[in-house]
Amino acid sequence: MEKDIKILAIETSCDETAAAVVLNGREVLSNVISSQIKLHTIYGGVVPELASRKHTENINPVIRQALSEAGMTLSDVDAIAVTYGPGLVGALLVGVSEAKAIAWAAHKPIIGVHHIEGHISANFIENKDLEPPFLCLVVSGGHSHLVKVVGYGEFEILGRTRDDAAGEAFDKVARAIGLGYPGGPKIDAVSKTGNADAIEFPRAKVAGAEYDFSFSGLKSAVLNYLNSCEMKGEKIVTEDVAASFQKAVVDVLVEHSVHAIRETGFKKFALAGGVASNSALRTAMEEACKKEGVAFYRPSPILCTDNAAMIGAAAYYEFIKGNVSGYDLNAVPALKLGER
Ligand code: KG4
Ligand code: ZN
Repeated sequence: MEKDIKILAIETSCDETAAAVVLNGREVLSNVISSQIKLHTIYGGVVPELASRKHTENINPVIRQALSEAGMTLSDVDAIAVTYGPGLVGALLVGVSEAKAIAWAAHKPIIGVHHIEGHISANFIENKDLEPPFLCLVVSGGHSHLVKVVGYGEFEILGRTRDDAAGEAFDKVARAIGLGYPGGPKIDAVSKTGNADAIEFPRAKVAGAEYDFSFSGLKSAVLNYLNSCEMKGEKIVTEDVAASFQKAVVDVLVEHSVHAIRETGFKKFALAGGVASNSALRTAMEEACKKEGVAFYRPSPILCTDNAAMIGAAAYYEFIKGNVSGYDLNAVPALKLGER
């Protein structure tokens, strides 16, 4: 039998300070997330400088807790993994510097992990049978990608957003309708009591790029609708605006995904990223996959939004391929998917 591999993973790319211990890429021994939502709520969004400072305060206690919940010390782990991009540079640097310091002190190898590869790998944790190849729709606050996962850590990007990411659109529209930060979960919640067919918002297509997304026109359409209601003195029903906007996003995401399923012939489809916890998207995509005769995977909501367990899952497959980083690993804020 092969030796068990235990990885201590660290994630600080945005506003969650997270650490986890993952066994053989699939079993989560601990998953600690210290959210900064309260801190940033008063500003209506993530303030990068504050995020970095909070990571610095939180990182050591979060790592200590992750090791203790897993019942081990640093000397018991086989490697240290850390998100090194993409993300906020100051936030990434806290995790990368910490990972390098403890890896060097404990004589452990270090594995730099791409944040989106982490989101995709979250699917391996609860679906022990899931193996590439599969199609994956990655929708988060900073990214919207439709990806062919051709192997572990091997990707072919079919489509991406031309402007706002899906989560960014949720956050901006939530602010405009007075729901505040973080927008996605709030729109998801109020949409449950709204009429999704009340307002016909546009479903944007990108000419010549069948799999690409564009959400900035939809965001402008919502803002125009709100302005015109105000000018005409018409009442704005927040729940209806939220539900109609959410439906417009979900329709486009599902339509592109179904198109990719039909064109590629892939038999497995997975959701990933913060927006993958959206209840309307999960239901619609599950139904679409059933109709297409394709297996549907999605992580539990706690593994959709930023966490370190997903980084530990991705790191395992890089580690067994021999893809370890040097102690000179640096943060790469605009790291592209598939680059190392
Ligand atoms: O993956 P994530 O935690 O961070 C990034 O890598 O960006 O994603 C955060 C994004 C935010 O834009 C947030 O509003 C969105 O995911 N989000 C949701 C939901 N939960 C989080 N969007 C729609 N519905 C949700 N339930
Ligand atoms: Zn993320």
